[in-house]
Amino acid sequence: MGISGRTRICGVIGDPIEHTLSPIMHNAAFKHLGLDFAYLAFRVEKAELKNAIKGMRSLGIHGLNVTMPHKSEVIKYLDDVDSTANFIGAANTILNDAGKLLGFNTDGIGAIRALEENGVKIEGKKMLLLGAGGAAKAIAFSAAEHLDELVILNRNVGKAKGIAEGLRRKFNKKITADSLSQDAIKENLKNSDILVNATSVGMHPNENQSLIAKEWLKPDIYVMDIIYNPIETKLLKNAKEMGSKVISGIEMLIHQGAASFEIWTGRRAPIKIMKDAILRRLMEENSNC
Ligand code: ATR
Repeated sequence: MGISGRTRICGVIGDPIEHTLSPIMHNAAFKHLGLDFAYLAFRVEKAELKNAIKGMRSLGIHGLNVTMPHKSEVIKYLDDVDSTANFIGAANTILNDAGKLLGFNTDGIGAIRALEENGVKIEGKKMLLLGAGGAAKAIAFSAAEHLDELVILNRNVGKAKGIAEGLRRKFNKKITADSLSQDAIKENLKNSDILVNATSVGMHPNENQSLIAKEWLKPDIYVMDIIYNPIETKLLKNAKEMGSKVISGIEMLIHQGAASFEIWTGRRAPIKIMKDAILRRLMEENSNC
């Protein structure tokens, strides 16, 4: 469908932004469903965020994704935020609802859907979550609703404890936090059903790093990494070799995008189309290296 005077504009704001995969996935989905929407990437510097959101209002931009470094800051320019974005203190999705800007956070739900789509039933399970940054907080919030037990380990233990405390007040579940020591990882892995790496350890250009010794992994644990560059992190490669089921960061990327897509369009996101578009682009990028 060509761009016309009626085309609804969506996009992503962040800095840097040129490597974003979001336009690829959303435009493929709009095209597949024949929706008169288009998705663009906008580099917005920190000092320009307020003006950018003003611009969203005055230009009537229909929806935006928000990424680094604006996810927390953006909240104060919105008219309302949902309970998830409110708890996390960060929004990654804005809907322009007839002039009212509403903020959402789809990171956590994206992670949960990625797990569920890959056959993980999280009800009643124990999750070991590494990290306490924005993404980890979003995952912890969405997971706490369904899980029986959640252990958050982080290098800065104060951040992990803060998240655990906030969640305990909200959910009647066993939620604890500790520092990211080798002992704590090893001990908690023994009876966890799901391991999620939400730290940046293992991300390009540090592909050789993993927080988990290979021999601690086992076949009866699901291992998810939120890193998608590389697609197969060292953690996932080791987990696969030890017989664990693995879920790559691409899955979370797609499902958080799918949740944004559904907020903007009211239509069910075509997951396979979005995934194929992203994988195709990543393959092209790799073959150009
Ligand atoms: P995001 O928004 O993607 O979650 P972030 O908020 O910067 O990014 O969080 C990065 C996470 O990776 C944090 O949990 C961070 O730990 P600290 O809170 O202690 O900084 C974690 N992290 C980054 N580098 C790490 C390293 N070398 N070892 C352990 N954890 C690391």
